[in-house]
Amino acid sequence: MEPFKIKMVEPIPFTTREERERALLTAGYNLFNIPADLITIDLLTDSGTSAMSDRQWSGMMLGDESYAGSRNYFAFEKVVQRLTGYRHVIPTHQGRVAENLLFTTVVKRGDFVPNNIHFDTTRANVEHNSGIAVNCVIDEAYDLAVEHPFKGNMDIAKLEALLAREGKAKIPLVMLTITNNSGGGQPVSLANARVTSAWCREHGIPLYLDACRFAENAWFCKERDPACRGRSVEQIAHEFFALADGCTMSAKKDGLVNIGGFVATNDDALAGELSNMLILIEGFTTYGGLAGRDLEAMARGLEEVLDERYLAHRVGQVRRFGEALHAAGVPVLRPIGGHAVYLDARRFLPHLKQEEYPAQALACALYLEGGIRGVEIGGLMFGHEDPATGAWHWPELELVRLAVPRRVYTASHLDYVVETCIALFARRDAIAGLRVVARSPVLPHFTARLEPLGSPAAALAR
Ligand code: F0G
Repeated sequence: MEPFKIKMVEPIPFTTREERERALLTAGYNLFNIPADLITIDLLTDSGTSAMSDRQWSGMMLGDESYAGSRNYFAFEKVVQRLTGYRHVIPTHQGRVAENLLFTTVVKRGDFVPNNIHFDTTRANVEHNSGIAVNCVIDEAYDLAVEHPFKGNMDIAKLEALLAREGKAKIPLVMLTITNNSGGGQPVSLANARVTSAWCREHGIPLYLDACRFAENAWFCKERDPACRGRSVEQIAHEFFALADGCTMSAKKDGLVNIGGFVATNDDALAGELSNMLILIEGFTTYGGLAGRDLEAMARGLEEVLDERYLAHRVGQVRRFGEALHAAGVPVLRPIGGHAVYLDARRFLPHLKQEEYPAQALACALYLEGGIRGVEIGGLMFGHEDPATGAWHWPELELVRLAVPRRVYTASHLDYVVETCIALFARRDAIAGLRVVARSPVLPHFTARLEPLGSPAAALAR
């Protein structure tokens, strides 16, 4: 059960099917364009959507809004130092700014940055600095059906091959994303982090964690790795951080806040450069684009997230949600990840070709059916023209991610989502494909407009 009581509530919107039909038409079949007031269950992201605790809210009232040296910064710095063991703690307003600071400082034109799988913003920040982002996750990560306890693991042989091909001077750092969001929220084992760390140290290459979901990752280690069973989540998390030289963090996930992030490191010279850049793009070193009260909420969230009752509930809630769909025959990525359930749109809608945007069609159908918003991770997000040949390149996977905000929805909310998905699955043959009518060259999924194939009226009537 939820290890908390609810003492503040927010009504959720209910809409009619006709209202949702109109909303889809107005939004150009892009769920990013639908106002949240027309969404009943919002599973677009687990980022910045958490409910804060009474302890965090009361901390917000103790915000010290001094421009420099706010007391909340020192509280925050202490919590991050204790958690990570890193000396330098540089606050940012969200994760991608931490990435921007790190990559603009260390990545040069033509450099390679390996990761298990880069999240979109880490890839974009590497590429923005004319670097090349390389995914080195184990092959199992690409098989949606295979059961593997640590599908986020780094494949050391792929790191070796990159090093042999490009040389050490072209690899300024290695990143390890815990949990591996773009591979389905799958964890990295402590043993794999140890060998990745040893490999990096042997070659003198710094290792940085993309630590957004470090606590969920540590919980999976405790659950699935017999060697971790007797250890606390906090001890496991400490060891992950100790194996790396620093981290970037979006506290909008396991920081349990609506805004906030940081970059932390043990490298004194690098910290100096990051701080100079921070002042240029975010603000002074003791606030980094945040209010004092936000820093306090983040400090408290980073402590609360290590509560093992909370983590058991959190990861268990997502797992129960996914397993209920799986048991009903709805195709989902296996095993269920830490923060989201991923519907496999290729198997859900086998009658649609990839150029008919099956994952986007499924995401829209789920909205039309029950006012539920997920996010497409497929041809709309990742389809692109090859810059060298001009040929259109489709991604391998067509997924709809249903990400679960932390401490926000109860079991019955997710039961409703399960029932809606099962009802839709029973009528899946009636779901029509989509065609893109407008798309921007950069991150097209945010602004693209689409329309149903065939006449819109006919598609909606189904
Ligand atoms: N790294 C990972 C693994 C992430 O999942 C995200 C954000 C970021 C970095 C960037 O953090 O949003 O604070 O700038 N993921 C969100 C998501 C947006 O929906 O998965 P940010």
